[in-house]
Amino acid sequence: PAVTYVEFDGAAHAIDLALGENVMRGALHNDLPGIVGECGGGLACATCHCYVDDAWTERVGGPASREESEMLESTAAPIKPSSRLSCQIVMSAELDGLIVHLPEAQY
Ligand code: FES
Repeated sequence: PAVTYVEFDGAAHAIDLALGENVMRGALHNDLPGIVGECGGGLACATCHCYVDDAWTERVGGPASREESEMLESTAAPIKPSSRLSCQIVMSAELDGLIVHLPEAQY
């Protein structure tokens, strides 16, 4: 399934991820700037912050869980209702075409 990562400056990158891959790892494996993923996907940092495109909010499972929301409080960029930690979004066939917007900074 493909994900389009839109950098803060508007540059868009469409990347095909394996099923079961999370959106943070997909960015790292493809050397995309804008996502750091310092804790490796353990819900223990907030450097994989992204904004899910409005059209996809429900399909990625709605807003962040409580645990995720607590971690999101330490992001560098402003939190929005669409904020998610990209390591918590796991690719399924239904998410083919997902669009995520990357924040200006992760620190
Ligand atoms: Fe650390 Fe996502 S990579 S919370």
